This record gives sequence, structure tokens and C-alpha cells, in this order.
Amino acid sequence: MNVYSFKDIAVLTGAGISTESSIASFRGQNGLWKNYRPEELATPQAFAKNPELVWEWYALRINTVLKAKPNKAHYLLADLEKTRKLTIASQNVDQLHQRAGSKNVLELHGNISHSRCLQCANLDKLKIDFKHPPKCSKCNENTRPNVVWFGESLPQNTFQKAIQAFQNCDLAMVIGTSGVVEPAASLANLAKSKGAFVLEINPELTPISQIANLSIRDIASTGLDNLINN
Ligand code: APR
Repeated sequence: MNVYSFKDIAVLTGAGISTESSIASFRGQNGLWKNYRPEELATPQAFAKNPELVWEWYALRINTVLKAKPNKAHYLLADLEKTRKLTIASQNVDQLHQRAGSKNVLELHGNISHSRCLQCANLDKLKIDFKHPPKCSKCNENTRPNVVWFGESLPQNTFQKAIQAFQNCDLAMVIGTSGVVEPAASLANLAKSKGAFVLEINPELTPISQIANLSIRDIASTGLDNLINN
């Protein structure tokens, strides 16, 4: 399979692409949801009940993410974007795609690097070891992490762009996601239904494997490297 025979590529990424940057994924053996309960940390109800606890957990993750570096898989995708139309729709909130140089990135689940004001929606960039819970720099009101929690809608404009990208692509690559969180997971089905070639890179079997034209059972860095450079 020659990736260069495709003109328009849409890529769906998940936590697995960042595990080689030492950022934990959510499911599986060392996944965050093994040790933490999402309903206590990643829902609007959890935040309303205990904003300090939620901010404390995010502060830990933000420190990890800000210290992390993009890995080979992030850089390979950024390089591929220089040669053809390529859109990344990422479920990741770590911004490692952008830090590797990718330009066309849709943040389906927001990003962890900013707080969002509950009053005026202003976004403030967070720094390592920021004081939490942070206040809005504009109006001094309370803020929340700028991410999409369970039970919340995706940013509609961003998701519409992702739908367009997956509807129009001739190759859909699905990298490092368990494919169980909707609506992101359905982007692969959408591409398939429109006739695109669906390629998965994941060391494990996922629901996406059932519809994929090709599943590469490998980690993102070597899977992508073999695909692009061989
Ligand atoms: N390369 C490729 N894939 C990998 C690697 C790797 N190095 N390491 C692990 N994986 C795969 C796992 O096999 C698994 O299928 O990455 C996937 C990670 O799955 P999840 O932890 O469920 O992450 P993700 O699919 O991104 O989760 C979706 O759930 O709670 C949330 O909001 C959170 O955006 C997240 C969403």
C-alpha cells in the first residue's frame, strides 16, 4: 500500500499516538480510567460538585503534557502534510500534533493547555505548576479546563470540519484510538461509506478493525514509518 497514491488524507488520532511521548492513554492496561473514575473527574457534574478536585487532577495532567515532547509519529504526520492535503482530527488534548508542526489540526475534545472562563469564555494559556483553580485573567471569574467532558457536545464548528474532511478524503487513517468514544469513532465509518480506504494503526484489535481495509498491528511510530518510508 502506497500512501503517496492518495491525494486527500483525513487522520483520526487518539491517546495511543501520544503514549510514546509518555502520556498515559485512557483505556487498557496502564490507562487513566483504570486508576481514576471518569464520573468523578471528567463530567460537568463532577466539576460542579468539586471543582478543586477536578482542577487538581487536570493540573497533574497539564504538567505531564507540557513537559512531554512530540514523538516520531507526530513528526511523520506533520511532514506528510507538507506533501498533500491532510487533516488531523484529534481526540487528544495535548497539542503535540501542533508542536510537531502540523497546521491542519481539529481539536475534537478541546485542549488541556488552556483554562476557559465560566463567565466570559476567555481562554488563558496555562503554565507548568500553575496555581489552581485558576481565575480568568480578564474578569477574575472562575474557569474550567478547556476540554470536552463526557456528556458534553463537541465544538460544533470543529466537528463539522472533521465530517467534511472524512467525507471527502480518499484515505482515512485511524491511529491509536480504541474507537469506542462517539461521535469521533464514527468518522471512520463515514469515510468508509463514502468510498475511502480506511487504514488503522493500532497494536490491538478495535471496533474500527472490522471496517478497516487494512489494520497495521504496530505502534504509531514504527507503523507510520514503515508505511511512509518503505
Ligand atoms: N501506537 C498506537 N496505538 C497505541 C499505542 C501506540 N504506541 N499505545 C496504545 N495504543 C492504542 C491502544 O491499543 C488503544 O486502542 O491506543 C488506544 C488508546 O485508547 P484510549 O485510551 O481509549 O484512547 P482514545 O481512543 O483516544 O480515547 C477516546 O476517551 O476518555 C476519553 O476523552 C478521552 O479523548 C479520549 C477518548
